[in-house]
Amino acid sequence: MIAAILISVLAFLANTTVHAKTGIIVPLYSYPETSSTWAPLRTAITTYPAVQFYVIVNPDSGPEGAPGSQPDTSYRAAVTSLRGHANVLILGYVFTSYGSRAQAAVAQDVQAYAGWTAAWGVDGIFFDETQAGLMATYQAYTDTVRAAKWTSGTTGYIVLNPGEDVGASTYYSIANQIVTFEDTYVQYQRQAPIPLAHAAQQSVIIHTFSNTTATLSSVIQTLETAGIASVYITNLDTDVYDGFGSDWAAFAQDVNSL
Ligand SMILES: *[C@@H]1O[C@H](CO)[C@@H](O)[C@H](O)[C@H]1NC(C)=O
Repeated sequence: MIAAILISVLAFLANTTVHAKTGIIVPLYSYPETSSTWAPLRTAITTYPAVQFYVIVNPDSGPEGAPGSQPDTSYRAAVTSLRGHANVLILGYVFTSYGSRAQAAVAQDVQAYAGWTAAWGVDGIFFDETQAGLMATYQAYTDTVRAAKWTSGTTGYIVLNPGEDVGASTYYSIANQIVTFEDTYVQYQRQAPIPLAHAAQQSVIIHTFSNTTATLSSVIQTLETAGIASVYITNLDTDVYDGFGSDWAAFAQDVNSL
């Protein structure tokens, strides 16, 4: 009897997933010229409701405008069309010049995004050009997110982008996710496997992907098995975040099914 219970408990544990499913992070740096510019993303969001999307919007290397200003009408409409889905978090792009950008300038950008009207509101911030090892500086940058008044009602989701491994950094205590790889597929092949400390808070961005769709699947499978929080892979090799590569649909389908 006891042995039977033990066996069923062990069987249950073996089937228990130990990490959340890997999501998709999208550096959405294109300007929505028409309603179809962001359509591939919209399609993936609605087709795969079980996949969490982290979408980085970037009107002009930042919010384009001071606190209190709103994005232009095309931009508003495009963000609104993404926001109406439960599996989407919108993040505003803010650069940090590797820690040398003035705190006041960063705070202005954060407050501008925070003030976007709820219909096209932003849920958090993506801090680009993050420099490792500057805890006081990045603590202060990220404090501006926690201090801001968010029209969207968010708690202020934070992603830092050093684009490289930061080891056991204290940055993991001030950010929800950290991009620990952002480079070409060739460079990924040289560096893989990705160090796995804090896998559940790691994001991996690979561009200039050039290999078969079977290899694309296997790269995604490896990152999913490792428990990486979010991933983006594109075969674009110039202006890599200014549109969707021809592998976008296969990529999104793989993340959903693996
Ligand atoms: C394609 O991927 C395979 C592994 O699946 C690897 O062995 C091969 O070197 C890759 N080819 C290129 C051109 O990167």
